[in-house]
Amino acid sequence: MQEIVDRITAEDEAAGIARTLLFPYLNHAATMFESGYATKADIDAAMRFGCGYPIGPLDLVDALGASTVAEGLAHLHERTGDQLHVPAPLLARLAVSSSTFAEEASAGAAAEEPVSHHPVAKVGVVGTGTMASGIVEVFAKAGHDVVFVGRTDEKAAAVQARVEKNLDRAIAKGKLDEAGKSAVIDRLTAATEREALGDVDIVVEAIAEDLDIKLELFRDLDRICKPGAILATTTSSLSIAECAAVTSRPADVIGMHFFNPAPVMKLVEVVSADGTSPEVADTVKTLCLDIGKHPVSCGDRAGFIVNALLFPYLNDAVRLHESGVPMGDIDDAMKATKLPMGPFELLDVVGNDVSLAIQTTLVEAFGHEGWTPAATLQKVVAEGKLGRKTGEGFHTY
Ligand code: CAA
Repeated sequence: MQEIVDRITAEDEAAGIARTLLFPYLNHAATMFESGYATKADIDAAMRFGCGYPIGPLDLVDALGASTVAEGLAHLHERTGDQLHVPAPLLARLAVSSSTFAEEASAGAAAEEPVSHHPVAKVGVVGTGTMASGIVEVFAKAGHDVVFVGRTDEKAAAVQARVEKNLDRAIAKGKLDEAGKSAVIDRLTAATEREALGDVDIVVEAIAEDLDIKLELFRDLDRICKPGAILATTTSSLSIAECAAVTSRPADVIGMHFFNPAPVMKLVEVVSADGTSPEVADTVKTLCLDIGKHPVSCGDRAGFIVNALLFPYLNDAVRLHESGVPMGDIDDAMKATKLPMGPFELLDVVGNDVSLAIQTTLVEAFGHEGWTPAATLQKVVAEGKLGRKTGEGFHTY
């Protein structure tokens, strides 16, 4: 921890880059906590388990000292005039009183352990992309029977192949044996008809991030799934309430936002809409723990915790590059603060099209002009340089 603090507060150019990108992110985390959107524990856990950060943002403010962050932001604000760089009121207060977010949080009620209210044995997954494949793998490895539905046999076969490839990788590393692989594979059932989801206890959908497409699916799931089945969406930016509203069971509709790569990242944001029943939220949180994930709770608002904190930082990195700082220097400066990837490396993993769509949704939802998607992000998307998936993004692969 001290190593990270020393790196961020050093006098060199890399530390200057880190402060320019980290301080607005820390400020936003402070605002999010102050608004009551999520608890300190969940905000910190979200960035650690969703993005592999060594420390959550509010713990990082405490480690750096609120006054260090508030002064850094004030300097940044002098340069940029951006309202987003004005220290959040709570951060400013902590800076003056030399107190911490940990002390602020301990004044609140302690979180209770979730309990399951519905048995969840059989799981359905809809979708055949990277996220859907990862989610199928996670549930099957945790011992659940999984029915996954693709639009064609070829797409369903691709899910099976991706899961098998990951299991083979685990065998090659000595972390799994052939019997273990067979047991996981035996729990999988591929289907091309949604009717196959009639007897599952929960459906997790990871199809296209398009509201009309999701609404059509939710209407169908409502028709097909047995009473009491939980209907979960992995959306990162669409409204859970709108998905719930087209069903006859809005209390059973919830968000389960996994992170990329799903088999590795431990976080699931469990997103309750106003109509989601607390029992369903508790059941889903317990299920997350059962499959080895760390659930955090948040409300039905664009970006939830992680994307709202992460993507403005990634966008800021692109703008910093536009101002003349080489991409490699930015990636290196951030990795020196122990982030697992530099911002341009991560943009290429997530996909620049996905990142642009998320950033656009965040601007619409929050109205911060300072979050307007960077011109270069828009340009690489227009040129089809979407990241690793197209062989070229900010970096070439
Ligand atoms: N699928 C399955 N397993 C994978 C994998 C993949 N795509 N990539 C890596 N792994 C596994 C490896 O097999 C390895 O497993 P073991 O430890 O069991 O051997 C483990 O992950 C670590 O991998 P590596 O040692 O090869 O690589 P690493 O140490 O560099 O870690 C990483 C890779 C875990 C991805 C790490 O770089 C990281 O945490 N990056 C940050 C990723 C991130 O921020 N994700 C969130 C993006 S935002 C999002 O997803 C939300 C949205 O809505 C878009």
